[in-house]
Amino acid sequence: MKKIIMTVIALFCTYPIIMFSCSKVQHFELSRFISPETCGGCHDEIYEQWKASMHNLSHVDELYRAAAFYYLKGLTDSGEIKEAEHCVVCHTPVGYFTGFPKKVSEERDGEAKIPEIAKQGIQCDFCHSATGAYAVYNNQMKLDPGFGEANPGIKRGPFKDSKSDFHTSEYSAFHTSSEICGVCHDVRHVAFGTKLETTYEEWTKSPYNSSDQTKRITCQGCHMYHRPGVPATGSTERPANPGAAAIGGPKREHIFTHYFVGGNMALPSLHGDTTKAKMAQERLKHAAVLTIDDGKISSGNIIISVKNIGAGHYLPTGLTDVRQMWLEVVVKDRAGKIVFSSGVADAKGYLPQGTIIFNTVFGDGKGNPVANIAKAREVLRDHRVPPKGTLEEAIALPANLPKKFHVHARLLYRSASQKLVDDLLGAGKLRLPVVVMAEAKKEIAL
Ligand code: HEC
Ligand code: HEC
Ligand code: HEC
Ligand code: HEC
Ligand code: HEC
Repeated sequence: MKKIIMTVIALFCTYPIIMFSCSKVQHFELSRFISPETCGGCHDEIYEQWKASMHNLSHVDELYRAAAFYYLKGLTDSGEIKEAEHCVVCHTPVGYFTGFPKKVSEERDGEAKIPEIAKQGIQCDFCHSATGAYAVYNNQMKLDPGFGEANPGIKRGPFKDSKSDFHTSEYSAFHTSSEICGVCHDVRHVAFGTKLETTYEEWTKSPYNSSDQTKRITCQGCHMYHRPGVPATGSTERPANPGAAAIGGPKREHIFTHYFVGGNMALPSLHGDTTKAKMAQERLKHAAVLTIDDGKISSGNIIISVKNIGAGHYLPTGLTDVRQMWLEVVVKDRAGKIVFSSGVADAKGYLPQGTIIFNTVFGDGKGNPVANIAKAREVLRDHRVPPKGTLEEAIALPANLPKKFHVHARLLYRSASQKLVDDLLGAGKLRLPVVVMAEAKKEIAL
């Protein structure tokens, strides 16, 4: 009977219209997963790096929870509800793969029943039990976990000669490829198929996905070389991190770090972390360069170009309907008086109309913008900087400028708009830090 049902599902899944709703996810007993603390008993340094990373915090993340519960409110369309309920597959993966919570509403109404281990987010035994993926999006990870601490099974990783008394070790090419990251870092609407996050796809089409091994850089090649003082980007050195992977383990040329830092400067600090905000800042500061070009000034514009020199994907990437990367331009006369500005945040941290912002905007299928990703039926706008690519922005200057003036342009980043944070968490609860990614200054004489 089970076999017949599976065949029917398989047939349905090949039918394109409903294909998107057929994600494949396995089911396991909770007792098969081993807690990160146990792994940390021997892998102490890796554990300390991962602790309070966004992977560790993916379930408890305040902004994520507020967004997930908010998006679910008032929906009636079944496709929209399906998407709004689906967040837990990536944000609480051990819970989802073992049966609770299967839906966001279960998480909202039954937090007390969520197993402690599931609250630890994207963790050691989830990633290191992986053997591959059914598809490289929406966390369709293929797992082969052990049977708890008594029989931990095989832990897969980058070494071909690794031995531990506790678990069997095995080399896994999957773990050395960008695919293991892409399984979650490519998000599609479960009912409408809209591409909501495309970090992995962006990387596959980038110059970093080169067949020339000397030019090829995987996600791990930047993000798992990153450590305090070593941002490891496309524009900086990515030196190896020699050391041991476990207490008493052999000395090796490179140990992949587990901080998993991107651009987020708020969340780890909210949970007591003291290194990751600084690391995010270092990473962001090596991602882009700005150039002011006054060549076309006769037409009333200055051109400011933004080049992505450091990221293996678009700038920004991931949750680009929420992230804010924008241009701030301030023009002063010789006395230092501001004669023109664009993108200067007000006292509340809100941006004025007309700010040049690099983001995506989703639509409801009829051309109207939607903020709730559950309603995203189309991409209305995608204005971001491709890897190693450049975007030119024309800034229209006012007509009555003095003969000589000074332009100061800054490329700024924060994890979300302050308005969204105030709406979701309450005004004054959390002021998001703003990072200056790049800046340029120029004296111009007409
Ligand atoms: C998001 C998935 C993910 C999580 C979570 C994760 N790892 Fe890893 N880990 C990897 C990948 C991928 C590699 C290998 C990278 C490569 O070869 O390119 C790796 C490498 C390792 C290695 C080999 C030594 C090294 O670092 O190079 C050990 C040991 C390890 N991880 C242990 C752990 C422990 C312990 C935890 C939890 C505290 C953990 N990992 C959490 C993905 C993960
Ligand atoms: C009793 C100590 C101990 C515990 C507990 C432990 N490990 Fe290990 N692990 C080791 C040692 C030692 C190595 C070998 C390190 C080396 O080869 O450099 C190792 C190697 C690894 C590797 C590398 C495998 C490879 O072939 O590349 C991974 C991945 C790994 N451990 C993950 C885990 C995970 C996940 C947990 C928790 C479920 C865990 N370990 C718990 C001691 C331990
Ligand atoms: C099981 C799903 C899953 C896998 C596998 C995974 N990630 Fe993540 N990752 C997430 C989620 C979910 C978040 C955001 C968590 C939150 O909301 O707090 C995240 C956050 C991150 C961030 C921080 C982003 C920021 O805004 O600062 C980085 C960097 C990152 N992941 C890199 C990686 C890399 C590199 C790999 C592969 C080695 C990987 N991830 C594998 C789900 C995953
Ligand atoms: C060449 C180096 C490089 C490679 C390769 C790379 N990244 Fe990044 N990544 C960066 C830099 C620099 C940033 C900071 C700028 C930014 O936020 O986009 C970043 C930021 C991120 C963020 C946070 C984005 C945001 O703005 O919220 C995530 C998530 C992420 N990377 C995941 C990945 C994944 C997954 C891959 C592989 C598919 C990958 N990265 C490959 C350099 C790299
Ligand atoms: C297929 C995996 C996946 C699914 C499903 C998913 N997310 Fe995420 N989510 C991610 C990844 C990966 C990131 C990190 C991307 C980045 O930093 O840009 C993330 C980051 C976030 C963040 C930013 C957190 C922060 O602190 O900056 C929010 C908010 C969020 N997700 C909300 C949701 C909601 C709401 C849903 C369900 C409607 C959802 N996500 C479903 C993978 C997923």
